[in-house]
Amino acid sequence: MTSNNIKFVWKNKIYLINNPNPNETILDYVRLKLKKTGTKEGCAEGGCGACTIVLGEIENNKIVYKAINSCISLVPSLDGKQLILVEDLVEKDRSLHAVQDAMIKYHGSQCGFCTPGFVMSLFAMYKNFSSYNKEKIQDSISGNLCRCTGYRPIIDAAKSLNNINRSDQFDKNEKKILNFLKKIRLRNVSLKNKNKKYFSPKNINELKKVIKENPNSIFLNGGTDLSLNITKERKDINNIISINSIKELKFIKEKNNTIEVGAATSLGEFELFIKKYYPDFNSILKRYGSVQIRNVGTIAGNIATASPIGDTLPLLLSLDAKIVLQKMSKKTILPITKFFVSYRKTRLKKGQFIHSIIIPIFKKNIFKAYKISKRVDDDISSVCASFNLKIINKKIKSVKIAYGGMALIPKRAINCEKILTNSSLSEESFKKAMKNLEKDFRPIDDVRASKDYRMEVAKNLLMKCFIEIKNHKLIRLN
Ligand SMILES: Cc1cc2nc3c(=O)[nH]c(=O)nc-3n(C[C@H](O)[C@H](O)[C@H](O)COP(=O)(O)OP(=O)(O)OC[C@H]3O[C@@H](n4cnc5c(N)ncnc54)[C@H](O)[C@@H]3O)c2cc1C
Ligand code: FES
Ligand code: FES
Repeated sequence: MTSNNIKFVWKNKIYLINNPNPNETILDYVRLKLKKTGTKEGCAEGGCGACTIVLGEIENNKIVYKAINSCISLVPSLDGKQLILVEDLVEKDRSLHAVQDAMIKYHGSQCGFCTPGFVMSLFAMYKNFSSYNKEKIQDSISGNLCRCTGYRPIIDAAKSLNNINRSDQFDKNEKKILNFLKKIRLRNVSLKNKNKKYFSPKNINELKKVIKENPNSIFLNGGTDLSLNITKERKDINNIISINSIKELKFIKEKNNTIEVGAATSLGEFELFIKKYYPDFNSILKRYGSVQIRNVGTIAGNIATASPIGDTLPLLLSLDAKIVLQKMSKKTILPITKFFVSYRKTRLKKGQFIHSIIIPIFKKNIFKAYKISKRVDDDISSVCASFNLKIINKKIKSVKIAYGGMALIPKRAINCEKILTNSSLSEESFKKAMKNLEKDFRPIDDVRASKDYRMEVAKNLLMKCFIEIKNHKLIRLN
């Protein structure tokens, strides 16, 4: 059955909106229609966290609480979820939530504009974890900017939550909310509002039907790139097919020395999984946008966007990843090296979507990845580099090197690879290879970095890789 409405849980009740405007952001809906103005608008592009709200979603028969940027999330994406706003944290008897109390006690607010966003990020942390170390706290607020208080009092407030074991109204109502969420999710949604259409199929068969009937639609996944067309570029998107709620596209599988990641799997989920196989992949993802961005954004979206500075792309290139493309029932597997055509252009055909990404596990190789950006958190790379080397007896048997930010597309460094293949693991070989990067790349020159800076950084990252691996314990002796 297909519904022409969305349903979500708010304040312990199920709410229904018939044919909402698919281009309206949750932030506008909350502030203008629900008249809840605690949630603030700062940048309107996912970068400041003032608009942070929390969505409750079912995972493994439990509710997980995800902080998201409401300024770049579209209203229909509320379907099947629990909406939690800063106003909702106050208990019935008007007492404040533990997180709010802590922010007051530790002077975590001055002008207060950023405060609701910080409170919601800390609320999600409080609900999802039972203890909060410095790393967890910094990660949780990496997508929230404060221009007057500074971060130390906010971090102190977060640390103090370790000593509080207070159940809240969300614990008390969890069973009821879980039952509501079970009732309202998994409905296929088809919305029409004036000239705008939005579809959210819940399985691939329904997706195929929707694509056939609406061939000119654009796919929406986490929306962390696409929705900026609406909020930043002020454009309308008339026909949207959301693939983000399709269960068959939300998976991570390990099989035959490969990892396969479904297209709708969030970066956050993948970040946890990949740590065991490629710790450097995990480190790059930890610096990818913010928790809010990684809670919804996907690798498939990063690939389809084909940005020259997409963070996962050089990593996937050096790992020889393959992309599973699907058009109707036909699946095609394409090496990622063949996917990017020119600036933000890919081999994706009309009606074709990324089903999954296959990443080989190189158990005996050394994998390194580095991200250089102006800020540690919440910033996109100027240069991102990735190295995958097989070294036996101090000889480089195979090497795959890829860079982002060095050309109009993310690219392998073929000339540099040629110099290093079968050469000794020595400073001399790497110095020669550094020179060859000039044959591989003519870097882009933009607001993030000049082309000369990028080339210098790219060379230095190659040398950094050598210095770090020259005594690496994974270097096999036979
Ligand atoms: C504040 C902020 C910080 C960011 N930080 C980073 C960063 O540090 N590093 C980085 O690399 N990027 C960053 N980004 C960019 C963005 O988050 C990524 O590109 C993200 O991976 C996009 O994924 P998504 O699921 O949100 O894609 P969406 O926005 O939903 O879609 C993006 C594009 O891909 C297409 N698409 C999505 N999924 C599929 C599919 N399965 N098949 C076919 N087409 C598809 C859509 O049609 C659309 O054209 C940031 C963005 C913001 C707003
Ligand atoms: S308003 Fe800045 S992140 Fe949403
Ligand atoms: S308290 Fe003013 S911006 Fe944070």
